[in-house]
Amino acid sequence: MPSSQRQILVTSALPYANGPIHLGHLVEYLQTDIWVRFQKMRGHECIYVCASDAHGTPIMLRAQADGISAEELITRVHKEHERDFADFLIEFDNFYTTHSDENRELSAAIYSKLKEGGYIDRRTITQAYDPEKEMFLPDRFIKGECPRCGAKDQYGDNCEVCGATYSPTELINAVSAVSGATPIEKKSEHLFFKLSDFSNMLKDWIHAGHLQDSVANKLDEWLEQGLQDWDISRDAPYFGFEIPDAPGKYFYVWLDAPVGYMASFKNLCDKTELDFDYFWQADSTTELYHFIGKDITNFHCLFWPAMLDGAGYRKPTNVFVHGFLTVNGNKMSKSRGTFIMARSYLNHLSPEYLRYYYAAKLGAGVEDIDLNLEDFQARVNSDLVGKVVNIASRCAGFISKKFAGELSAEIHRPDLLQQFAEASDNIAALYEAREFGRAIREIMALADLANQYIDENKPWVLAKEQGREQDVQDVCSMGLNLFRILIIYLKPVLPAMTASAEAFLNVPPLTWKDCQQTLTSHKINRFKPLMTRIETAAIEAIIEESTTALATDNNAEENSMTESEADTKSPLVADPISDEISFDDFVKLDLRIAKIVNAQHVEGADKLLQLTLDIGGETRNVFAGIKSAYNPEDLEGRLTVMVANLAPRKMRFGLSEGMVVAAGPGGSDLFILGPDEGAEPGMRVK
Ligand code: MSP
Ligand code: ZN
Repeated sequence: MPSSQRQILVTSALPYANGPIHLGHLVEYLQTDIWVRFQKMRGHECIYVCASDAHGTPIMLRAQADGISAEELITRVHKEHERDFADFLIEFDNFYTTHSDENRELSAAIYSKLKEGGYIDRRTITQAYDPEKEMFLPDRFIKGECPRCGAKDQYGDNCEVCGATYSPTELINAVSAVSGATPIEKKSEHLFFKLSDFSNMLKDWIHAGHLQDSVANKLDEWLEQGLQDWDISRDAPYFGFEIPDAPGKYFYVWLDAPVGYMASFKNLCDKTELDFDYFWQADSTTELYHFIGKDITNFHCLFWPAMLDGAGYRKPTNVFVHGFLTVNGNKMSKSRGTFIMARSYLNHLSPEYLRYYYAAKLGAGVEDIDLNLEDFQARVNSDLVGKVVNIASRCAGFISKKFAGELSAEIHRPDLLQQFAEASDNIAALYEAREFGRAIREIMALADLANQYIDENKPWVLAKEQGREQDVQDVCSMGLNLFRILIIYLKPVLPAMTASAEAFLNVPPLTWKDCQQTLTSHKINRFKPLMTRIETAAIEAIIEESTTALATDNNAEENSMTESEADTKSPLVADPISDEISFDDFVKLDLRIAKIVNAQHVEGADKLLQLTLDIGGETRNVFAGIKSAYNPEDLEGRLTVMVANLAPRKMRFGLSEGMVVAAGPGGSDLFILGPDEGAEPGMRVK
């Protein structure tokens, strides 16, 4: 092993095995794959493992709802994920499952080390229990009326309408979202991991590592608030691993999920020469990186390093946190056709367009990234087709036709080629730092120079002139040498196009250091178009395939829900019609046409927008839980319907003087109801 060769183990978060991969997930898997391919091209030993996250209540219930066993569900979804990833050219060294013997053994071993270390407590707690289904209910499987504003059908521990947070036991008229039964309270003994014992270790780790600043700051905040012990057990029925010394109790999915990284690697070691302990022992000199989304930072930067430390293993070298995907500036939405599954995209477009676009947008920060579909099309067409591929197509024909595919013996402009080769360190440093967007900008600036070179030397004009044969060959050979270097720099992002380019250039697989070499007196193959333009029709077809009527299909979003999310939607039962009211009750409602004269974000509120409503000579201040579906700018000037005689309520953010009428299951699928043109603010709705 050369002394400069690094040994790097890389993971992406393990996708839940209960629903399809969508373009949001792909931000992560593509980011990781590009980084890993870059490391491999640099000659490092870099191993990329992942797995299906196969356990937990949502998976158990999903399987039951589908009438299949949990094993069948996770096997089927595992295969689908594997195909989606392969088709997006994501190349894992191993894609395993957390429902494996390796994971069972490693999870049990880690648990028993933590127990020996005195880090496990037993404590009896009271929880909501579904007496019909005979199971304890996770928060998001309980729904009822908000104890503060009375809004119906609120799930879990927070109200979408008024933003209140509470314990699910405070919900009024609570019912189980699984069976509809009224939950009862029931005691049960649980196992707790004493996270607070690791406070000092974590404080050091957070600042000794190279965590992103914003991540380190967030973790500091959590540490200052004091760490709570972590409930790592769940009662049967549960789909997971039974805890060895606690019959009828199972490890909480988030205990065995990160161990799944180790288990996938263990499985790979058993098939290869790799040495498990060498990578995981406490004093390992190898590097370990986890790529994750910002929603699961606490699991990876608090619980996981503490578990590893307590069990005597090494800790991650770094955890690379990325932001969330928005599409056309909004949260992905099924009604807008922007909740796009990996498969729907692949049905119409090649994976490399998206790989390129994400790369062009990604930085090392935790900011959300936006997939603007118009920009996507324009950018890919102009950069890849218009700039990069164009260089080759402008030069290749002359070389094949006039020179039997043979490149010149000399380099026409060594200075320019040198400039291209010298950019390599800077571009490599940007890839290493996950500043892909900046790397792409550098590469495209070089592509501009290459096109400029060809424009200035005009081989198509030279070709018509007498005695300029050599010049034509020299210019086109120079162009292809520049193209070759650009392809090397783009290889981590565009592996398939690179493979075609390698075939065309008639060279073995390119590595990073090949950018210092030149192709002279070398025979190339016939040029075939390397990439075609994105047509508008393809994008329209994707949107159409992704647009589903609200009432008919909720699966996509249900399936994508995670156990860690305080999701507010019922995964299994539709909204029932509320209890009957009398006509007298009905006429008490004073519904008015209201004009939204101002809308703004509310500092510190996740779900609320502050609206100023004009109801004809009178304005009202209303806090509405519609932030997930609307941008304030888009609301101003719109008409809506409000309940004008609702008693004002004091909220954390101020007084709310009424409510707007909205429909939909929540999230981005929420619609404020606006009346027809011609309605006037203040009109009464009858
Ligand atoms: N199963 C857990 C991870 C366990 S890791 C030991 C999980 N699964 S997930 O399927 O919900 O998400 C997988 C990864 O995709 C997570 O890192 C998550 O942050 C990321 N993303 C899911 N939706 C996303 C977007 N819309 N945008 C960007 N990343 C997203 O969490
Ligand atoms: Zn409420």
